[in-house]
This record gives sequence, structure tokens and C-alpha cells, in this order.
Amino acid sequence: MKFDLVIRDGNVVTATEEVFCDIGIEGGTITAIGKKLPSGEREIDANGDYVFPGGIDAHTHIEQISSTGLMCADDFYTGTVSAAHGGTTTILSFAAQHKGDSLRAVLVDYHTRAKTKAVIDYGFHLIISDPTETVMKDELPELIRNGYTSFKVYMTYDALKLDDYQMLDVFALARKEGALTMIHAENHDLIRWLTDRLLAAGAVAPKFHAVSHPRLAESEATSRAISLAELVDAPCLIVHVSSEEGMEAIRRAQRRGLKVFAETCPQYLFLTADDLDQPDMQGAMCCCSPPPRDEASQEAIWRGLSDGTFQVLSSDHAPYRFDETGKLAQGEDPPFNKIANGVPGLEVRMPLLFSEGVLKGRLDLHRFVELTSTRPAQLYGMFPRKGSISVGADADLVIWDAHKTVTLGWEHLHDNVGYTPYAGRTIQGWPRTVLSRGRVVVDAGELLVEKGSGEFIPREKPSAADPLGREAAEVSLARRFGLEDLW
Ligand code: URP
Ligand code: ZN
Ligand code: ZN
Repeated sequence: MKFDLVIRDGNVVTATEEVFCDIGIEGGTITAIGKKLPSGEREIDANGDYVFPGGIDAHTHIEQISSTGLMCADDFYTGTVSAAHGGTTTILSFAAQHKGDSLRAVLVDYHTRAKTKAVIDYGFHLIISDPTETVMKDELPELIRNGYTSFKVYMTYDALKLDDYQMLDVFALARKEGALTMIHAENHDLIRWLTDRLLAAGAVAPKFHAVSHPRLAESEATSRAISLAELVDAPCLIVHVSSEEGMEAIRRAQRRGLKVFAETCPQYLFLTADDLDQPDMQGAMCCCSPPPRDEASQEAIWRGLSDGTFQVLSSDHAPYRFDETGKLAQGEDPPFNKIANGVPGLEVRMPLLFSEGVLKGRLDLHRFVELTSTRPAQLYGMFPRKGSISVGADADLVIWDAHKTVTLGWEHLHDNVGYTPYAGRTIQGWPRTVLSRGRVVVDAGELLVEKGSGEFIPREKPSAADPLGREAAEVSLARRFGLEDLW
């Protein structure tokens, strides 16, 4: 018996183990793990390198039309090529419903965009911005059953936000169907009120974006979202958490045994509000919501990554060029509230975390794997096919050179954004070879697969989406009064 491919003598690291061994691959699947495996048609010597499960970036905006009508700078080709060069082998991207859209039609569009372009595997979270009766009764339940088992809702942005009543409807449906709700938690009116005052005072520069989106907006909305989820006994995941205050609300809920999960992103570890204060509008490149905070917040977020408050490190790659197609679409000198929100980062997500997390002693290797691959796979219903190195799993692997040093600059990256907020930072550790279903996607910086060779991954209902088992007392009371289906 000959394997199609053997990865030989790697230091294989999963979320729980580290073993020096070989990995045998047949038909795109891992079929053996052990020492001195028989030879393969092809062999890759991984001696001296780590072998990790391929990265899963569970929060990316690719070929997405924003709520203000802007198309992202990355399509499914540039976005997935860039992801692959950084060690990511699966992305979850958003299929965004705008008001009036049918969810089914939205998904048809996004499938069409991705199918002929993606070079790695992908799935979609829906964005629910218009929870009409048709959406809630007809479309969404069926789509959840068909493998779209997570979706995002927004508590802010004029065109996207749901009110608390609608959030309750969404949570109740998610509970019933076993889906996971992702929440952009910021208090809309608080931001709007501050924005109006800042603009009236002539405080329009990008740096005021950070003033207009205070930590209180995040912590208040986070607490409120958790309360709404608790009432109807639904799990939830708070995305792109930026502050200690937001994190504390999550930690309190987790201590109470609630199924509250959390994601953070590189921008909250490596940028601060000062990065929004640059000449010639360049601070716009770092405008995202919630905004980067300060060094104390960065340290708090690092603690949350190591103590288990966060399960997921995603990029929230939201690619807008620094020109009239993106950040400056509303003019050359737009006020902060007219700057497209988002920063790029899907290629540097894993290298940044490895260099500054693992090599600086903040995280161990297993936690690195958990945060970048295994836990996202579990939370979003792809485990153990994705996020693991085990017999039967897809051979999605990244052979990692822990010694390579790289000085970051956009010219070395593969996205279509034109800048990186991390330019000039020297980091250590970079993927050497990246495999997706046994195919060598990237080797020594070279792309080796065809456009369109990535596959859509329908997802299971994640076990994380089991009910909390801790419904609010009033709901239990209603149940005792015979109102079984109240929620
Ligand atoms: O500013 C951000 N994070 N932009 C992307 C959209 C979102 O809310 O995730
Ligand atoms: Zn968001
Ligand atoms: Zn996002």
C-alpha cells in the first residue's frame, strides 16, 4: 500500500497533543498517523517544522457588498489566495442580507461568487438584517437545516441593526433550530449621540471614530445581548471583542455557566486608537468597529486569549482600499462616520498570533491551534473534518517554519487592499507549505492550485448550539402555567 502523500517527521501539534511523527494521506484525507509510515507517491520532509491543522478564519468579508453599497476589495480568488499564504485552509465568509432580500437569493449570489474563484474551502454565515415573517418562518429554518448553521446580527449600523424585540425572535429561532447566533455588540444610539456631538463640534478626523465608539457602547450591548439570549435559553457568540469591559461581561456570563462564546481579532492585539491619528487621512486605514483601544486593552485581550474567555481568533478581514473604491468612497476627506469600517488581516492572522503569542510566551502551542483552528471548527459545525489532525479528517495542514523572520509589508501579501496596518513589524514564524484536502496549495510562497478548486463546506449543527439549560425564571414560570411554546 502506498499513500498518495506522506508528511514525514513533523512536529505535529494539535489542540491537545504534540507528537513527532508522519502523516499519511490518501484521496485528500488523513488515513494514518504514526512513526515510520510506509512510503508515499510523494513525500514532504517536515523535519524541523511544526505541522498544525490548517487555519480556520471564521470571520471574513469577501466579495461582500456593505450596507452602504460598497464592494469589498477582495473577491474569492484574492481573498482565499491571501488566506492560504498565511496558513488558513478554510474561511467562513458573510453572505449579507440587505433589507428586502430573500436569504435564498443572497446565498445563490454568494455561491456564484465563490465557486469559480476560491482556492481553499469555504462556508457562509448569513447576515440577518431583515427578519421578516418569510425569513423567520420559511427561509431561515430550512437554511439552517441545509448547513448554514450560524448567522450574524448587528446591534448597530443604520441599515443592519436589529432591535431587542427582533433579537429575541432571532435567538428563539436559533435555539429551536440549533443554530449559533453571532453578535456585533455595540449600542447604536450611544454611538449615534456621540457622533452627532463630535460632528457638530467639528471633530471629524478618523481619530474621532474611536471616541464615537466607546468601550461602554460595547460592554452595554454585550451585556444586553447576553441577557436577551439567556431569556430564551439560546447560546451566542460575541464577535470582534475589543475591550476589557466587553470581555468582563462575557466572562461573567461564562462563570454563570451560560453558553456565551467570544471572538477577538489581531487589530485588538496590535493596534491602538493612536493608529487612527495619522496624517493625510491615513488613520482611515485603521478605522474599524469596534475600534482599537489602548495598550492596557491589548494586554487584557491577551489575557482573555490565554485564560479561555475567547475561543476564536478571527481576522474580521474587511478589505477596503485607501481610495475612492473603499475608504475614500465618500470623498477625499470624509468625516469619520463616512469611512468604510474594517481592516484587512486574513494572511497575517496566524503569523502574528504565533510570533507575538507563542514565541513571546503568552500562549502555548495548543492554545494557538485551538484559537486559530480547532475551536472555530467545533463552534461552527465542521469538526473533526476540519480543525483536527486525525484519521478521517481532511488533510488540511500547515507546515510551519518557526524560524523564518518576516518584516510585514503589503507588497509581500496577496490580498487586494494595497496596505497592511501592520507594515514594518518584524515577526518570526511563517507557513512553509499549506495543504488543503491533500493538495499543496502553497509551497515556499508559491501558489500551486487552480482558481475555483476550493469547495463549499456545508456545516453541522454545532453542539455549542445546544440550549443553555438555564432559561430565565419567567420563561420557566410561563411553562409551568402551560405556555410551553412561549418562546
Ligand atoms: O469594522 C468592522 N469590523 N467592519 C466589518 C464589518 C463588521 O462589523 O464585522
Ligand atoms: Zn461586526
Ligand atoms: Zn466583520
